[in-house]
Amino acid sequence: MLSVSDILKKENFSLEDIVALLSSSKEDRSLLFQTSAKVKEENVGNIVYFRGLIEFSNICSKNCYYCGIRKDNKNVKRYNLSDDEIIEAARFAWESNYGSVVLQGGELESESFTVRIENLLRRIKEISNGELGITLSVGEQSYDVYKRWFDAGAHRYLLRIESSDKELYYKIHPLDDMHRFERRLQALYDLKSAGYQVGTGVMIGLPFQTLEHLAADLLFMKEFDIDMCGMGPYIEHTDTPLWENRGMLIPLEDRFDLALKMIAVLRLMMKNINIASATALQAIDPIGREKALKIGANIIMPNITPGMYRDDYKLYENKPCTDEEAADCKNCLEARIHMSGNKIGYNEWGDSLHFNEKK
Ligand code: 5AD
Ligand code: SF4
Ligand code: FES
Repeated sequence: MLSVSDILKKENFSLEDIVALLSSSKEDRSLLFQTSAKVKEENVGNIVYFRGLIEFSNICSKNCYYCGIRKDNKNVKRYNLSDDEIIEAARFAWESNYGSVVLQGGELESESFTVRIENLLRRIKEISNGELGITLSVGEQSYDVYKRWFDAGAHRYLLRIESSDKELYYKIHPLDDMHRFERRLQALYDLKSAGYQVGTGVMIGLPFQTLEHLAADLLFMKEFDIDMCGMGPYIEHTDTPLWENRGMLIPLEDRFDLALKMIAVLRLMMKNINIASATALQAIDPIGREKALKIGANIIMPNITPGMYRDDYKLYENKPCTDEEAADCKNCLEARIHMSGNKIGYNEWGDSLHFNEKK
């Protein structure tokens, strides 16, 4: 077997190489992080782009086994921001020079939902003189719906594959027509054809998940040729079916460590994509997101959801910033980014260089 320093010199990693990198410890791990930090600096620079995150509704038609806002969880107070509240949040992002917003919500599929998002996209463009970039994250939809939203102004889309292994996918999702693995894959291809910069990702440290699964996930991302990635540690939630499997989980600190390594290895494999520093990292380590920015991530998503709703968008336990308001996160993050040795790319879309290069 090759040593970590030999693997790091390679142009392309095999599954075994990635597994070796993911299991590295001590000096090998430091070497991995040093290398990925350098690759980040050389390819995307030490600039972090902001995406103001608006969690506009926790009403969801699906039942993912891991997620705290799944349809069947009766302990959640459901909310749906008004269009005006969403526009106000977008205005805050624009006035704060954030450059972009992300509209994220539970998954719904209907003509009225499609029209609602279409109108919101147009209004956000209007109030910002077309300046705010918009990322959508509202799950699986048809190609036509994706296209309509693209035409209305969205240009990036996040849809995590959650796991690229079909068997593992069905251990964390119900095996029914609402949760088909093939549909998820098709949706990713449709997003690409509709013209979006496409982001995907996985949860790290799931029950039943092995290092081989995670290595295959990274190879999947490379093969699919993604433009953006958001991935973070899995954090168990009491009101979900997967809570039953918590006995199989590795400790939180190990999940955190593995998540950092996944980000570092992906940065080496896909040098000029955008990689988000997931909020879930901060649920484990108070400076978790800053650590990820140091070793490979270049995107952060400050929460700009109005404070009164934040407590109800709990996908996992211990979610940070649920007592804060948008302005609190703004000040807090500015200080944090500067401490991590990065600059903030104000007023810029900060599009995926990888995507722009393909054009
Ligand atoms: N732990 C970590 N991440 C989670 N997500 C959902 N539930 C959890 C959890 N318990 C992630 C999923 C989803 C994204 C919006 O949040 O990956 O795609
Ligand atoms: Fe709904 Fe997304 Fe949660 Fe699944 S992960 S239940 S689609 S909000
Ligand atoms: Fe929200 Fe620090 S980022 S309070």
